[in-house]
Amino acid sequence: MSPVRPRRVYIETWGCQMNELDSQRMAGQLMQQGILPTREPEEADIILLNSCSVREKAEQKVYSRIGEYRLFKRTRNDLLIGLCGCVAQQEGQRALDRVSDLDFVVGPARVGELNDVIARRQAGERVVATGFPEERTYDIDAVSRHGEYKGMVTIIEGCNKNCTFCIVPQTRGPERSRPFAEILKEVRHLLDYGFMEIELLGQTVNHWREPGGDLDFADLLDAVASLPGLQRLRFMTSYPRDFTPRMVEQVGRHSNICPYLHLPVQSGSDRILRRMGRGYARSLYLDLIGQLRRARPALALSTDIIVGFPGETEEDFQQTLELMEEVRFASVYAFKYSPRPGTAAPRLDGEVDPEVASERLQRLFQTQERIQREINQGLVGEEYDVLVTGWGKQPGTQMGRTSCHRIVHFAVDSQPFPLGGMTRVKVESALPHSLLGRLVVP
Ligand code: 5AD
Repeated sequence: MSPVRPRRVYIETWGCQMNELDSQRMAGQLMQQGILPTREPEEADIILLNSCSVREKAEQKVYSRIGEYRLFKRTRNDLLIGLCGCVAQQEGQRALDRVSDLDFVVGPARVGELNDVIARRQAGERVVATGFPEERTYDIDAVSRHGEYKGMVTIIEGCNKNCTFCIVPQTRGPERSRPFAEILKEVRHLLDYGFMEIELLGQTVNHWREPGGDLDFADLLDAVASLPGLQRLRFMTSYPRDFTPRMVEQVGRHSNICPYLHLPVQSGSDRILRRMGRGYARSLYLDLIGQLRRARPALALSTDIIVGFPGETEEDFQQTLELMEEVRFASVYAFKYSPRPGTAAPRLDGEVDPEVASERLQRLFQTQERIQREINQGLVGEEYDVLVTGWGKQPGTQMGRTSCHRIVHFAVDSQPFPLGGMTRVKVESALPHSLLGRLVVP
């Protein structure tokens, strides 16, 4: 008798933290069925592509990957390939029509139904599980957090903002907050498992509200940060207009709320912000940054910026560069505008020449690189508590994150630290994207 080979799943994830968590949920559901994760697509019985559709390039990438993996079916006719995530929601049946080797499509709000979808496929049906049902399966025990140093907890799904560039309201559906008690239970459960870092997730995380109640994100922050054993609390992504003074106060009050915030500004020009439908002006954003920095002087900020949005002139772009000089972000995620189906911006006039947009993006990166180099240089000589997150490229080195989310590399001479552990490091030199340090012996 030949030994029974365990069944394997290979999951490829693109995009945001929500997708990462969805992948952990899918892996966990399959592991409960005895199907184990693998890093090798060649040896998988199930391949799941958890896709992102925020820009066109990401969408193209997933289709080209399906094209590669479907070739495995020539020798393995029992292999299943599933399209998940935001492209799945956007494309639905179209994806099955386009790729005959695709077995099923599962949208972000239907992740909890994966086992059922696979069972139906095995019975012969090519399933499309998309849309936003009221009732959702969400089993917190079935999340595979293996190898992760932080526990991610969704507190709010979907988005009701109507930014003219953004496809997310269509792919992740209308906004929907999870109940307060359920969130606290999940965080406690993670702390019991020994997670030191918790990350609260949502497309507009600070717009969380107790369903049918009065509590808002400030109350939730206060309650979660007060839980015993929680060393680091993060949350993303905050929407600038939804940040209230009560939330700023909580960020100032709880030292375990990490002094790091991701606050997408998208543009430094009021004219472009208006065309984007962001609902705030540059002055509101800068005022908020001022409040936050008064509450937490060591606060590190990151942001998202779109360049080449329809109608963006050189002057508008200059205002974005000026805002970057004024705020001095610790990091910036910048993208060229990409028209998305079903959004309003493609109908706006003033299309920006792609070469002009590329050139602006390059200048933006240069500016930011200089700012980051200067900021990081100023951290040389400082000591930080570092959460160990991985191994360095050089043998004998490890890496980790400060509470303000900076990457630190350091040498370990004897026993390496377990991932997820804490140590203390003194910064000895700085690069634009990371710090180099040495262990501080207590
Ligand atoms: N084109 C380019 N960038 C986009 N983003 C969202 N939609 C688009 C688009 N159509 C960027 C925004 C957002 C980040 C997650 O992706 O900056 O904050």
